[in-house]
Amino acid sequence: MSSFATPEFLPFALDPIASHTGRVVVFNDADTPLPRAAKRADKLTRGAVARAVASAAFGKLKPGQGLVLNWPAGMQAEALQIIRLPRKPQPAELRKAGLSIGKAATESATLICLDALPPAQLVQAALLRAYQYQAQKSQPKPPFGAFQIMVKEADAASDACTGALARARAVHLTRDLVNAPANVLTTESFAAQIRDMAALGLEITILDEPALEQAGLRALLAVGQGSASPSKLAILHWKGAEGAPLAVVGKGVMFDTGGISLKPAAGMEEMTMDMGGAAVTVGLMQALAERRARANVVGLVGLVENMPDGTAQRPGDVVRSMKGDTIEVINTDAEGRLVLADVLWYAQQNFKPRAIIDLATLTGAIIIALGHDKAGVFSNDDALAAQFLRAAESVGEGAWRMPLGAAYDKQIDSRIADMKNTGGRPAGAITAAQFLQRFVEPDTPWMHLDIAGVALTKSDSAHAPKGASGWGVLALDALIVAEFESG
Ligand code: BES
Ligand code: MN
Ligand code: ZN
Repeated sequence: MSSFATPEFLPFALDPIASHTGRVVVFNDADTPLPRAAKRADKLTRGAVARAVASAAFGKLKPGQGLVLNWPAGMQAEALQIIRLPRKPQPAELRKAGLSIGKAATESATLICLDALPPAQLVQAALLRAYQYQAQKSQPKPPFGAFQIMVKEADAASDACTGALARARAVHLTRDLVNAPANVLTTESFAAQIRDMAALGLEITILDEPALEQAGLRALLAVGQGSASPSKLAILHWKGAEGAPLAVVGKGVMFDTGGISLKPAAGMEEMTMDMGGAAVTVGLMQALAERRARANVVGLVGLVENMPDGTAQRPGDVVRSMKGDTIEVINTDAEGRLVLADVLWYAQQNFKPRAIIDLATLTGAIIIALGHDKAGVFSNDDALAAQFLRAAESVGEGAWRMPLGAAYDKQIDSRIADMKNTGGRPAGAITAAQFLQRFVEPDTPWMHLDIAGVALTKSDSAHAPKGASGWGVLALDALIVAEFESG
């Protein structure tokens, strides 16, 4: 699995600016006197830095953006990156600077002359942007060179970055899982990978098909019954505090053909990302364990594959959920909600959570509503929704609250069963959320995140090159820091 070279923290010194053979990064604002690292680079390059900073191009840069001088004379470096940054930068500006550094990274080591700037946000962002998925290449590109951070108090900076590194590693894990093809990452290999996470101190439980049958998760099992890969429910518990846990539930459809309601061929290959909710849940649990969060959080992921087959469920079938409510399956392509219905119910019955959050690449309709910049946020609890929107904003992940309501709920009433699994085209993302809400106890704070538009992007996004984004790991981690950690 791809991850990154651990950043090195070095005491600040001026001599490495001349001798470093990879990339060198210095910072300054347009109108201040050059800070000491930029000044040394300026001296070595006989004034090139000052001329660059005085240029119209530099004047147009936003804080955190930079320009690059290739093979600067007077230095050993392959490139000198000059990043515009105020002396007292905002967190978002530091993040932007890190993204600029990560985007420019090559296989050479990057020496970042931070000096007295705070390291965590910048380093985390650089690591998030410098990601590439090479696992399926027979001739993989060389990995990115290490980030070497020259900073005033190297040991303190290194300590300050442990959380940032855990988060970045977690986002990389989520992306690797989402990018992985469905013949490589199956319900079984995913479950095996989760089982190995016990080494981090997570308590892992995996329910196989007989156990799921026994517990009554018939709606989840119905989705997977046409697949050669057995359905699973994987539970990852991080018990870093006492009290009722926060439950995080992820949709893990390893591949979504649509089932008997088969999807069109064009673009179907994208449905390898239909386990994005499970991938975010697993990445989040890894981050919590690695940074030893003082929070009680349980992650539950329903792992299934939606295939057409002689044994597959059909449109018109009626299945009984674990809750006991019956569901008329109008469209076998509305499978995610069948999986989540049972996992939501299982989580509430077995863990009595203080709040429950689910993540799912649930509907194409949310892409029509919000595009690829913001995930849909549905909640029965205004406080939880507001806390999450604040957390998402603080890490630069897009999120937008969507409505729920009785009028939408009526769309999924069924003539022959308790409900049907589709509500027609109008408000498709909302009727999907209404379906889930029927499996949430009314007094349990619940939030549903429809990440179909944000899990995988066709062009570079804020934090990530094109492909899997890892959206949600940072926002949920920030929510847990703000609202679910003790002391
Ligand atoms: N996994 C899809 C939703 C999806 C679409 C995710 C595009 C990512 C990109 C989901 O299972 C699905 O097929 N939803 C249907 C529901 C419909 C049949 C009611 C949809 O959105 O078309
Ligand atoms: Mn589907
Ligand atoms: Zn799906």
